[in-house]
Amino acid sequence: MINLVLKLSARDLVHADLASCGWAGSDHHLTSVAKQLERVRTGEVDYLAVCAATDIPVAKGGVDYQVKKGVGTLWQLAVHPALQSCGIGTFLVEAAELRIRNRGLRQAELGVEESNPRARALYEKLGYVAYDRQPDSWDEQASDGSLHRYETMCTLMRKELT
Ligand SMILES: CC(C)(COP(=O)(O)OP(=O)(O)OC[C@H]1O[C@@H](n2cnc3c(N)ncnc32)[C@H](O)[C@@H]1OP(=O)(O)O)[C@@H](O)C(=O)NCCC(=O)NCCS
Repeated sequence: MINLVLKLSARDLVHADLASCGWAGSDHHLTSVAKQLERVRTGEVDYLAVCAATDIPVAKGGVDYQVKKGVGTLWQLAVHPALQSCGIGTFLVEAAELRIRNRGLRQAELGVEESNPRARALYEKLGYVAYDRQPDSWDEQASDGSLHRYETMCTLMRKELT
């Protein structure tokens, strides 16, 4: 086994990145990310890319400032499947929290599916506390291109940023 050190940086995700973000989800998902990038221009959203030396995204995720006044809501967090459990998700969440603090806000929130205990454990380790649960749903694209409504239950979590 070889231990590698990756130099990570966080920057804004841009439209040109989407062609190399196929690992993050279906074409339908990437189309929805492209729409969110339009909201970045109006300041409603920050959308981050985490990159290593090649400047190609290995993780991405958004912060929506419109869900709740005064709160940055993290969503659509994803790390390249081949690079999960290496600390990149932690780096992504911390970069997102910095964006929230840079706007003068002190509250971060997110929703995590009840079927995703590993992600929940990570958020707990980073200081997020569950305060409620809420159903959620979105369109998912099957391999034949068809769309299906996916319904799920999420735990809502929040963190006071110091
Ligand atoms: C959830 C997700 C974003 C987390 O990203 P990640 O890069 O895997 O997260 P991290 O590596 O920072 O932390 C996760 C695990 O790695 C461990 N870890 C953290 N830093 C580490 C390091 N330097 N070396 C080894 N392991 C490390 C953590 O302790 C944690 O371990 P655990 O699984 O026992 O809790 C990612 O797994 C993912 O994209 N999953 C699929 C999509 C998804 O579920 N998105 C979340 C929706 S809410």
